[in-house]
Amino acid sequence: MKTIIGNWKMNLGVRESVALARSSLLLLRGKKVAPHMVICPSTIALSEVRKVVARSGCGLGAQNVSSEEQGAFTGETSARMLFEVGATHVIIGHSERRHLFGETDEGVNAKMLKALEHNLTPIVCVGETKEERTAGHVKKVILHQLGTAFKTVRPKFSETLFVAYEPVWAIGTGETPSVQEIVEVHTYIREILGELFPTAPETAFAVLYGGSVNGENAYSFLREKEIDGLLVGGASVKIHQLKEIVDAACEVLIAQS
Ligand code: 13P
Repeated sequence: MKTIIGNWKMNLGVRESVALARSSLLLLRGKKVAPHMVICPSTIALSEVRKVVARSGCGLGAQNVSSEEQGAFTGETSARMLFEVGATHVIIGHSERRHLFGETDEGVNAKMLKALEHNLTPIVCVGETKEERTAGHVKKVILHQLGTAFKTVRPKFSETLFVAYEPVWAIGTGETPSVQEIVEVHTYIREILGELFPTAPETAFAVLYGGSVNGENAYSFLREKEIDGLLVGGASVKIHQLKEIVDAACEVLIAQS
């Protein structure tokens, strides 16, 4: 299986989100084999987009969640609230949250625990900065981010949890690592997860790539068996780009079936 997750970031209002959700679903219509799709609109659009994706098989993700259960946390949205409005997934530890809003690995861990407690499937983002890459610290950074994010986490393994490798320097820049470099990091992520969860089945985790994915490069990523799917930002709100990405996933799935 391949999964395409669209992170719409802070780009669309409610009406635009509903329209994009409809057109995104149409891309899957009539396909004999299709990727699993998850769309992540802004928090205010979740309940309306839920009506569009209901019974479609498409997941509905939030872009962030509070690490707290409830209380005096102005502006925050709890996991229970997200679940109530129909979210099935939640992005945790996105690099924009880490770098613009000061989220820490410990905070990511607390959010993971809350998400799982309230039946939201986490999409945990990890990835190095340009400086960390230049210093040769990619593996060290990923090990620390994953080790902390999953600390004391007890997944049920009945749902696939997502880990997205999103190098910070590749987000919204048009730059990406080479396919070979991504495969290497994904293999390493799987090794770490294997050590953290030795009894987990193969299907327990899916490792996605994110960062400047578009209609042109999607196929080269998706054809790799180590790349279980893509976390797409900018191209997921441009329907013609998303169409090319979905078509690339279909082509890969047909070739591999
Ligand atoms: P871009 O696809 O716009 O580079 O963003 C990637 C991303 O941040 C997805 O979460």
